[in-house]
Amino acid sequence: MMLRRTFLALATGVAAIGLGLGGASAQELPKLKKKDHYKVGFAQTESNNPWRIAQTESMKAEAAKRGDQLVYTDAAGSAAKQVADVNSMIAQGVDLIFLAPREEKPLIPAVMAAKKAGIPVILLDRNVDQSLAKAGRDYVTFIGSDFVDEGKRAAEALTKAMDGKAKIIQLEGTTGSSPANDRRKGFEDYIKAHPGMQVVASQSGDFARDKGRQVAETLLQAHPDATAIYAHNDEMAIGAIAALEAAGKKPGKDVIVVSVDGTRDALQAIIDGKMLATVECNPKFGPKAFETLDRYAKGEQIEPWVVNTDRFFDKSNAAQLIADAY
Ligand code: AHR
Repeated sequence: MMLRRTFLALATGVAAIGLGLGGASAQELPKLKKKDHYKVGFAQTESNNPWRIAQTESMKAEAAKRGDQLVYTDAAGSAAKQVADVNSMIAQGVDLIFLAPREEKPLIPAVMAAKKAGIPVILLDRNVDQSLAKAGRDYVTFIGSDFVDEGKRAAEALTKAMDGKAKIIQLEGTTGSSPANDRRKGFEDYIKAHPGMQVVASQSGDFARDKGRQVAETLLQAHPDATAIYAHNDEMAIGAIAALEAAGKKPGKDVIVVSVDGTRDALQAIIDGKMLATVECNPKFGPKAFETLDRYAKGEQIEPWVVNTDRFFDKSNAAQLIADAY
């Protein structure tokens, strides 16, 4: 009896996957019908930093401009909540889901559940594990920056400023997230060719200002001879600057700080001489996200990665560009 029930459950599951609840087969990407107005989901990771707030504002503004309905959720820093948020969007019958996957692996079930329900997913700003899900097969595309290149550009700027010699503390982003993995790779691969550039400590500050401050404080105590800090985002860099000042060190003189994003506070820190540079990671996804949705609805073949190009901010342009920063 037990065996029979297990077999039936398995058979039903396989059939559901095979047919897809929304009509698409397991191999097929769900289609999007052309409509005047859409009901779309946007599953945000958290809202504890200016980058996330700017991204959400950009998505909301673009949806409002087009007269589309945006079902917005904030996972408050929990991958499990973000999976539940996507499931709730599926239950509400949205036409398409924009997902900013907090971490690469835990959001795979959400991508697969949407596919199974016949709802196309576009990944925004962060990617998922490429060995588990693929653009064009499981989700439409990934729109975002080249994080490896961002890390490389931060390393290049630091290497040049330090004449190829530095003891570096690395503040990593959220563990298991694509920007943390890739910004680390880009940076570390670049400095391999510069033996004087040495990462003496590396720890996650979860992309958050206060966590970055706390981690920097601990790592500076363990490595008082550190001469540089590479933070995976500006919020942690600002936290690190506070930690340096609390330790009686002069950021920008005793310890050189470099990071990624381009927030207003980071540009101000550059103007104040406390930060060397920040590689841009542009959060204003609204126009490109909805333009990609329209292209998909028209039946266009979407490239697997819609690449955002990033600028670079240092003392040569920070004062001129700060008025437009977020
Ligand atoms: O995914 C992009 C990163 O996420 C940004 O650099 C960071 O500030 C945000 O939390």
